[in-house]
Amino acid sequence: MDSQELNQRGNWGSKIAFIFAASGSAIGLGNIWRFPMMVGLKGGAIFVLTYILSVIFIGFTVMLAELTIGRHAKKNPVGAFNFIKPGSPWKLVGYMGVITGVFILSYYAVVAGWAAGYLYKTTIGTFRRLSTFSGEEAWEVSDIIFKNFSANPLEVLICLFIVIALTTFVISKGVKGGIERWSKILMPALFFLIIILAVRALTLPGAETGLSFYLKPKLSEFNADVIFFAVGQAFFSLSLGMGTMMTYGSYISKKDNLVSSAGWVCFSDVLVALLAGIIIFPTLFTTPGISPDKFQAETGLMFQVLPIVISKMPGGNIFGILFFILLLIAALTSTISLLEVPTAYLIDERNWKRSKAAFVIGLSSFLLAIPSALSHEAVKIFTKLKIMANMDLIFGNIMLAIGALFISIFLSYSWKTKNALKEIESGNKHFSLKPFWLINIKFLAPIVIFIILIFIIIKTITG
Ligand code: PFF
Repeated sequence: MDSQELNQRGNWGSKIAFIFAASGSAIGLGNIWRFPMMVGLKGGAIFVLTYILSVIFIGFTVMLAELTIGRHAKKNPVGAFNFIKPGSPWKLVGYMGVITGVFILSYYAVVAGWAAGYLYKTTIGTFRRLSTFSGEEAWEVSDIIFKNFSANPLEVLICLFIVIALTTFVISKGVKGGIERWSKILMPALFFLIIILAVRALTLPGAETGLSFYLKPKLSEFNADVIFFAVGQAFFSLSLGMGTMMTYGSYISKKDNLVSSAGWVCFSDVLVALLAGIIIFPTLFTTPGISPDKFQAETGLMFQVLPIVISKMPGGNIFGILFFILLLIAALTSTISLLEVPTAYLIDERNWKRSKAAFVIGLSSFLLAIPSALSHEAVKIFTKLKIMANMDLIFGNIMLAIGALFISIFLSYSWKTKNALKEIESGNKHFSLKPFWLINIKFLAPIVIFIILIFIIIKTITG
């Protein structure tokens, strides 16, 4: 056992193990549930295009920044800022990340729990009867099924408990024996499932209409909102802005190439988001009575639309079972990364044992998740406060953007890019994207994120 393992930190076994684990964090509900929802809401293909550009110019840039800081410091976000600039207020950005992680987990795990619940319902054939109703009626019945499920405290809390318990179990087993081991099994399974489902969707009669909504940009739909949501989606989807990639980067060996690792994670994340759209849009457009506007805004809509699609499609039950397994796997590899950040903090900074840290954070997240879990009509006050939607706005959008802004400013102007370059070049002597990355991290990323934050503040104030 080396000293890394003795102090409970651990390291990835190989570069590919890191890529699986980090893609596992990145690929999640953000790709399969949130991305198609945003595409439906924000103008279709033009959103897709803006999102891809945001990942290339800003997402990749911040991802490489987080990995570099993490590997250099070999610590959780709080420890990393404190290691590079001891005694400075920068560690507050680390604390912000740890707290953001626990709060994102608190609503994210609820939606993951819904996926578990819907997997069960699909398996026992709950949605079969929807096939006997016409478009609008089917919609109403599906709505009732979802409302009954999400408003039933016992059912949602059991599903939530299962998700948090599985996540805590994996985290308690450590970096190699837990995260790496499970990512290596779950991620190939996820890729396999998503390809089968995409082929199935593409071969549906009439798939072209859905595809053209999804892939043919209409410039007239482009506006500031599209940029704001596309950049926000890029941060959320790539797990950036709260130190997750810093923490995962802290387990990477000095010899590994951070640039290509960041590139692979961004590429696989975009690929899965695009494939998720390929599954969703042709399927939606070929189901009578369903259109993309039915797929918007509210958290629960995917859970209302899919059962109808499943019930009306030939072989739909198998499609449904595979789809919800896919959603659950994608969600679990992300909840794992959300729990790892505060766990690493307790291990590094407070010298806690991994198993104790995982248990305490797991239990706290469960308790913190209860208001979100009960915010869909189960408890009136939580419903009125729109706990889940507000958690996503505050922590999933605003806090991640603030975190990413501080990370790019910290790297460029406090730690300085020349020191970051030394770290990057220890595993990659020929960093050919150097000029591109330097311009983006010093200027483009901070400026764009700053403007976006101002935009959000104005929008929130003016309602
Ligand atoms: N990237 C995850 C997804 O797309 O579902 C969500 C997420 C995980 C966000 C971890 C932030 C994070 F730190």
